[in-house]
Amino acid sequence: MCGIVGYIGEKPAAPIVLEGLAKLEYRGYDSAGIAVYDGKEIITKKAAGRLAVLENLTHSGENMPGFSAIGHTRWATHGVPSDLNAHPHTNGDGTIVVVHNGIIENYMALKNKLLGKGYSFASETDTEVLAHLLDYYYKGNPLQAITKVLHRVEGSYALGIMFADHPEELYAARKESPLIVGHGEDGCFIASDVPAILKYTRKVYYLENQEIAMLKKDEVSFFTVDEEPTEKQAVTIDWDANAAEKAGYEFFMLKEIYEEPKTVTDTISPRIKNGEVVIEELNMTDDELKAISRIHIVACGSAYHTGVTAKYIIEGMLRIPVEVDVASEFRYRDPILSPSDLVIVVSQSGETADTLEAVRESKAKGLKVLAIVNVVGSSIARESDSVFYTWAGPEISVATTKAYSAQLAAFYLLAIRFGRARGVIDDARMKSLLEDLQALPDQIELLLGQKEKIQHFANRYIAAKDVFFIGRGIDYAIGLEGSLKLKEISYIHSEAYAAGELKHGTISLIEPGTLVVAVATQPDLFAKTVSNIEEVKSRGAFVMAVAERGRKEIEKAADYVLYIPHTNPYFANSLAIIPLQLFAYYVSVGKGYDVDHPRNLAKSVTVE
Ligand code: AGP
Repeated sequence: MCGIVGYIGEKPAAPIVLEGLAKLEYRGYDSAGIAVYDGKEIITKKAAGRLAVLENLTHSGENMPGFSAIGHTRWATHGVPSDLNAHPHTNGDGTIVVVHNGIIENYMALKNKLLGKGYSFASETDTEVLAHLLDYYYKGNPLQAITKVLHRVEGSYALGIMFADHPEELYAARKESPLIVGHGEDGCFIASDVPAILKYTRKVYYLENQEIAMLKKDEVSFFTVDEEPTEKQAVTIDWDANAAEKAGYEFFMLKEIYEEPKTVTDTISPRIKNGEVVIEELNMTDDELKAISRIHIVACGSAYHTGVTAKYIIEGMLRIPVEVDVASEFRYRDPILSPSDLVIVVSQSGETADTLEAVRESKAKGLKVLAIVNVVGSSIARESDSVFYTWAGPEISVATTKAYSAQLAAFYLLAIRFGRARGVIDDARMKSLLEDLQALPDQIELLLGQKEKIQHFANRYIAAKDVFFIGRGIDYAIGLEGSLKLKEISYIHSEAYAAGELKHGTISLIEPGTLVVAVATQPDLFAKTVSNIEEVKSRGAFVMAVAERGRKEIEKAADYVLYIPHTNPYFANSLAIIPLQLFAYYVSVGKGYDVDHPRNLAKSVTVE
């Protein structure tokens, strides 16, 4: 999604803002712009394309002197990527300047009203309406104008706003789209995300919905949408500054794959105490856990795939019925929910619009919502009844890897915790489950050692046109994620299929040389999957299998086998996904793509 950075303080503002925008590139964008108050007026420069275009245009901010600025990287929603549609947007005489992340849903109605009042528009964007509406309401008091505008607009926004006749102030406002305020030694900041300002301050405030911030060079104050002053608590960010850098890896994605052992450790270890799973943030008693009659898991993309895995685990281990939905379907199908159901939403960013709406839909129907989220203080985290934070740290690459692994670990812990509360996991089984769970990080580490072997195999498939992933049960869920990884970063068409489903149509697509990735980690389904391998082999497919070490019989059927260490079958996804993530990564690298910024994708989809 779009990125916003603003600064007001003692230092030249433009270089700081541009540097901050560079730290937000992972959010996905197609144009960029910056506005700086130069002591007399606000100067705005913007350009379609990568941030480098804007940096060249402004000589990295050197030719834009001034001590307050707002900048923006735009992910187009209304209006094509272009210089004109890039933010910032201004009122007619350039005295009011706005950057915006989100969607103003009633912008056309507002635009027509403004056109009727003689306003003219330079761009096709919804954001420009905000600049003219601020102009319309502005009588010399920025806060008053802002609150009037916020009462008129519908939709979502994170805003940075400057007023040329109030150069000592910089304003921000938020509804749905995340925005933080930073208070540093040399000035104050606004940003869409922490990495943009981490170099300058660790003291941040998370703006709540319809809150407004007024920044001066050495102080920040907050107001409600009714112009009432409001107090906020600062949060100290304890991320290591390097955590948001590549640490020597070519792409964040590989760095984050290599962080998976630590991510799983960080997520599970603090929640295993004296041989029990302790999830303090669950906010649910054993009796409440016993009373759950059905679980709805709602998420998008890879987070949804962890939900598909969790269905097999929870139903298999606990015999609680589980429904899994993609959030964009859940929120519009008027789901049938009963008071004894539990909704679990999963989201790395905690800002995915469809998933956030699923939270609201569930709460409106009176259900408890448990969120599995990676970003502290994110909207989904704050609007859910309880939050299970995955401690994966900042995940920069658009394709999720370590957060996905942390989400799986979260579900394992929840299943065990629920099972203990419901009396379906006895001490002996608990001990065995925890042993397997705590072995996962080292086993992932072992699998990372296969990097070169996987890279060598991946290089043979750089020119592949179609790849199929097949599996049964949890292996099917693993295939879903393996397929998405390959698609989203190598742009190779790929499909994941329940292996037993192939013969109902898709097998007609298998031709000599077609790559089929067969996941066969589930002991009770192994033989069935092997016969599916034979099915596709007989039609000329080349089969790469993922199986548990020791199942050598699979080598009679598959052409190439990647083995994973033994673990509880319920946890197999955490291991089998590693070679599939590496496979996708190396195919993308082999194709020369920008692995961390796949085309058309954004790290956090905060619009519908
Ligand atoms: C994952 O590789 C994808 N980039 C995407 O499917 C992602 O999982 C999905 O957009 C959900 O994002 P969230 O976890 O932040 O809600």
